[in-house]
Amino acid sequence: MYPSIQPHRAICELPDELISQIAAGEVVERPASVVRELIDNALDAGASHITVRLLSGGVRLISVEDNGVGIPANELPIALKRHATSKIVNLSELESVGTMGFRGEALAAIQSVSELSVLSRTAEQEHAMRLEGRSGELQAAARAIGTSVEVKELFYSTPARRKFLKSDATELAHCVEAVRRHALARPHVGFEIWHDGKLVTQWRSPSGEMSLDYRLADVLGTDFLQNSVAVQFTQGHLHVVGRAGIPDIARARADQQFLYVNGRFVRDKVVTHAARSAYEDVLHGHRQPVYALYLEMDPQRVDVNVHPTKIELRFRDSREVHQAVRRAVESALAIPRANSAMVQDSASENINADAAWKAPAWKQTPMALQGQNVQDLGQLWQRSMPSTPPVARISESAFNLEDTQDVSKKKDYADVADSWPLGKALAQLQGIYILAENNQGLVLVDMHAAHERIVYEQLKLQIDARQLSSQPLLIPATFPATEQEIATAQASAQVLMDLGIEISLLTAKSLAVRAVPTTLSKGDPIALARSVLAELQQHDASTVLQRAQNALLATMACHAAVRANRKLTLEEMNALLRQMEVTPRSDQCNHGRPTWRQITLRELDALFMRGR
Ligand SMILES: Nc1ncnc2c1ncn2[C@@H]1O[C@H](COP(=O)(O)OP(=O)(O)OP(=O)(O)O)[C@@H](O)[C@H]1O
Ligand SMILES: [Mg+2]
Repeated sequence: MYPSIQPHRAICELPDELISQIAAGEVVERPASVVRELIDNALDAGASHITVRLLSGGVRLISVEDNGVGIPANELPIALKRHATSKIVNLSELESVGTMGFRGEALAAIQSVSELSVLSRTAEQEHAMRLEGRSGELQAAARAIGTSVEVKELFYSTPARRKFLKSDATELAHCVEAVRRHALARPHVGFEIWHDGKLVTQWRSPSGEMSLDYRLADVLGTDFLQNSVAVQFTQGHLHVVGRAGIPDIARARADQQFLYVNGRFVRDKVVTHAARSAYEDVLHGHRQPVYALYLEMDPQRVDVNVHPTKIELRFRDSREVHQAVRRAVESALAIPRANSAMVQDSASENINADAAWKAPAWKQTPMALQGQNVQDLGQLWQRSMPSTPPVARISESAFNLEDTQDVSKKKDYADVADSWPLGKALAQLQGIYILAENNQGLVLVDMHAAHERIVYEQLKLQIDARQLSSQPLLIPATFPATEQEIATAQASAQVLMDLGIEISLLTAKSLAVRAVPTTLSKGDPIALARSVLAELQQHDASTVLQRAQNALLATMACHAAVRANRKLTLEEMNALLRQMEVTPRSDQCNHGRPTWRQITLRELDALFMRGR
């Protein structure tokens, strides 16, 4: 059915309109693409408020009104021409472009597949001028300073395209999504969307330094703000800010990942991969994290002229970007959220207030920490660690942080208990949960899960610092072993040594554990050896990569963590809470489940219908 060789047809230059229609094919796929282009233009014009009006999902009408600088009357006809732009004049400006637009193509492309008119007024003009795209007619009109672009009957001249459009509701949803992406990019700009005469959504523009959080809560919901951590990281010329959702709110699909490079919404495999890998240690399986990340970088180090819709880009040094994003998100997630729980609660109270809100002074600490890199966090952790390793204390079931006989110390304890994010331990429930009281109400801790994370993080830190010390057992622990276990023990002797475990062959059918990591010295050496051998069987013994190593450490930690049904004293419980507060990633156990939950007084009051 394919045409066979055709007789030669003369080569001719295409007419302008057809060129524009071809260009429109790349840039204008549906009403939402028009919305995107027109908002890009409004933002480039410095608008602080943008109103989008749609009829029938944008198919009948898309109108975007802004309060930007406007287009001078004599330039209006030029604005609609192909390859006409005020944003760049030469190659070097293209290579360091800071505006959304630069191709000088959008309005011409849109006009070629619709009926377009532009109404605009600059500060110098006494009145506005309206230009009808098709007829070229220019007329005086009334309007405040700024620009309105009206696009009617999209694809009326290209029915093939029009057939691809979905229902009005679907097209409207795409348009709203396009505005949402811009709204997240520009927290200082107000947005309104109207459909068939009704207000669909509006995002107000607060002023002040917390405007990004305000906008994030407004657009993505207060839930996102409450269940995310601030990202703030600098590496050379690269800045990464934003918020990363905690593992609790991860989703089955990657549909809540907002990524911006120099204020432009983009999709990029490098950054997406970097962000996902930052969750490796806290999010298992195929769950997709939620985040809004903003990269700011030297525009010369990123090429935005890769894709007609500018949704893709190319980094000059993608490894550098990968590393920065990964470290930014990783270090943000590593801060135990216990330390910012109070921040989040008060944030949510303020979120519905009209006015912008400022970070309370005590928020500074976690915020400042989040700007640091992983190494700094390690140091911080060590700094805040008591001199004896906490795990050793737990294993020895001697959690005593204080001398219980010392009355004056006890008083100090009560005084500072108020300021501890995870509060003061009250009791143990069913040998599984610790109940604690803090400023906001009740804290519930899954004892085993929390302790497991603490031990795991400590082992990781020790192995990274090559300080995983090993303790010889006075009496080697011997056990009958399977052939598999014996083979693994022999093949992986070096790896086991690196992990602080020494296992040797005793007889043809038994093994002897001769040393275990000091951190785990109070546990059951045989159970530890067996579970590590089982884990090792699944990996190539000669190359235990980072991933396998972490899996091994996790196995060891799980094994060593305090078991359910162990009765803890209040001192032991308090020691565990304090360790959680200073342990990176302590909000999740190694399997990505939460280790603690806050139940606020407000929630408790609601439960008992108090204050109604
Ligand atoms: N809302 C607006 N306010 C002020 N000037 C505008 C507005 N919209 C368009 N213009 C002017 O019209 C020109 C053409 O706009 P158009 O969107 O076609 O191209 P561009 O934004 O320069 O590049 P791109 O094709 O990449 O979007 C712009 O360069 C700008 O000078
Ligand atoms: Mg443009």
